Amino acid sequence: MSKTKTLISLIIFSTFILHSLSISTDTFLYGGCTQQTYTQNSPYESNLNSLLTSLVNSATYTSYNNFTIIASNPTDIVYGLYQCRGDISMPDCSSCVVHAVSRTRDICPGACGGVVQLEGCYLKYDNVKFLGVEDKTIVLKKCGPYIGYDTGTRDAVLSGLMGSGGGYFRVGGSGQLKGMAQCIGDLSFVECEDCVSEAIRRLRSDCPAADFGDMFLGKCYARYSTGGGGGAHSYSKAHGKSDNNGEKTFAIIIGLLAGVAILIIFLAFLRRICEGQGK
Ligand SMILES: *[C@@H]1O[C@H](CO)[C@@H](O)[C@H](O)[C@H]1NC(C)=O
Repeated sequence: MSKTKTLISLIIFSTFILHSLSISTDTFLYGGCTQQTYTQNSPYESNLNSLLTSLVNSATYTSYNNFTIIASNPTDIVYGLYQCRGDISMPDCSSCVVHAVSRTRDICPGACGGVVQLEGCYLKYDNVKFLGVEDKTIVLKKCGPYIGYDTGTRDAVLSGLMGSGGGYFRVGGSGQLKGMAQCIGDLSFVECEDCVSEAIRRLRSDCPAADFGDMFLGKCYARYSTGGGGGAHSYSKAHGKSDNNGEKTFAIIIGLLAGVAILIIFLAFLRRICEGQGK
C-alpha cells in the first residue's frame, strides 16, 4: 500500500513539474484592450483576422514582425506586431504567439485593439498606428520582496545592460544574479537604448534592494532577479537554449518514470481484481 502511495506521489510530483515547465514561455504577464469595439462580420473584423493569421504564420520563421492590413476605408486599417524574447527558440516563439493571439481573443472580444505580454512574447494590434512609435509609459511594475542586500552588484548588472552596442535583447549578470532587457523590434537602435535606460532607471529607483524587479514599459522592458527568493522568479527558467534543453530532457525522463509508475499501478490493480475473482 505504501508503495502505491509513493508511486501516486511521484505521479503528482512529475505532473506538477511537467506543468511548470510547459507554462514557462506562455505565462501571462499583462494584457489590455481598447474601449472601441468593432461590429461583428464587419470589414474590420475580417482584416483583424487576416492580420492575426499573418502574425501567427510569421512567428514560425522570425522573432519579430509587423503587418498592416490596408483597406480603402481608413477606419478599417489594422496594424499589428509581435516580438518574441530574444533567447527562445523558433518553435517556442511560434507557440507563444499562438497563445498570445488566443489570449487577446479571450480578454478583448470585439475590441479594435489589444495587447498581451506573455513570458516569451509580446503581441499588439490596433486601428491606430503605433508602429515605430516609442512608448515609455509603465505598463507593469513588479518588485520582489525587500531582501536588503548590497545593491551595488545589481546596479552593475543593470548598467551592463545599457550601452549603444546592445541589441534588442540583452542579458547580463552571473550566478544567481541575472538581468535582461528586451525592446520591441519596431524601435530604432537609439530609441531602444533610450527605452531600456528608462526602464533600468525605474528599476533602480522603484525596487530598492528587492529580490527581483520587472519593469515593463510600452515598448521595452528590463528585469532582474537575484535568485534570493528561492529562485521562484519565473524568467530565469527558460533562460538560454542549453538550459532549456536540459530541462526538457529532465521533463521527458520524469514523464517516462510517471508512465512506468502508472503501468505498475494498473498491473497491481489488475492482479488484485484477478485475485479477488479467484477467491
Ligand atoms: C514593418 O515591416 C516592414 C516589412 O517587413 C519593414 O520594412 C518595416 O521596417 C517594418 N516597420 C517597423 C516599424 O518595424
